[in-house]
Amino acid sequence: MDRSSTDRQEICAGLLQLPARIAPKYFYDVRGSALFEEITRLPEYYPTRTEAAVMQAHGADILQKVGAGGTVIEFGAGSCEKARGLCRLLRPQRFVAVDISAEFLHESVARLRGEFPGLEVLPLVADLGRVVELPAGLPRERRLLFYPGSSIGNFDPPQALELLTRFRGLMAADGALLIGIDLVKDIAVLEAAYDDAAGVTAAFNLNVLDHVNRLIGSDFEPAGWRHVAFYNVAASRIEMHLEALAATRVSWPGGERRFAAGERIHTENSYKYRLAEFFALLARAGFSRSDAWTDPRDWFAAVLARP
Ligand code: AVI
Repeated sequence: MDRSSTDRQEICAGLLQLPARIAPKYFYDVRGSALFEEITRLPEYYPTRTEAAVMQAHGADILQKVGAGGTVIEFGAGSCEKARGLCRLLRPQRFVAVDISAEFLHESVARLRGEFPGLEVLPLVADLGRVVELPAGLPRERRLLFYPGSSIGNFDPPQALELLTRFRGLMAADGALLIGIDLVKDIAVLEAAYDDAAGVTAAFNLNVLDHVNRLIGSDFEPAGWRHVAFYNVAASRIEMHLEALAATRVSWPGGERRFAAGERIHTENSYKYRLAEFFALLARAGFSRSDAWTDPRDWFAAVLARP
């Protein structure tokens, strides 16, 4: 089955669930990817800049542990902004940029090639929720998998374990995974990061409805919905939802769903971890050696995991 029909099936099934769901990967059309870039620069959204500061402060340690050269494979590469710093630090021979958004990826890869003329840059459009086939002929030795930005937080724990296990399967014994983890912290800090004063996160969340309209031919009216974000303490996660402002009916070829006023569509979870918990998850995925570096407030960790 091609990607668009699997997407269509997945989205329609999610809309018919109780409560309705849209998977967060559908945030990232061209506008959604641009809005996410804007989120990363918001004063309230600390993860991106905190992770960059951790990587900057501990770059020498990371280089010492993984060594220069080899192949860097970044998952969810987006603008390749984080790759720039890492490529400057590790001077890899090749860089594989994996992302779900084809348009956005091809632009970023072209820019990266311009900036690093000696670097072999390979773009790969793939959905991390499914099996990722790396380019044929990619050397198996000396692979550093890079998964920054705490994107692992957008997977529920069983799926996170499955993804980490698949990462482990993509490397030889000399490989490593460098992964960003958002840590549990003060609720007010967390909630502000997902409900910024300028309304960029709200626009990002609502944009998923326009994207879904294009993917399945539905007739969502984004103006009839509002952004909701809160921290679920018991589950250690930020939840994002879209809430119907009034009773409404949404239809698409082959289906429809009625929503009562106040009824929600669950669009994202963003899990926050304690380091010990995350190390335990890594161990279950087959990584036995883990190192972590954090910022002075312990808000964010860069974790280096090795088999
Ligand atoms: C991509 N991901 C790690 C972001 C996060 O923080 O969970 C997505 C995001 N959602 C709202 N703001 C940012």
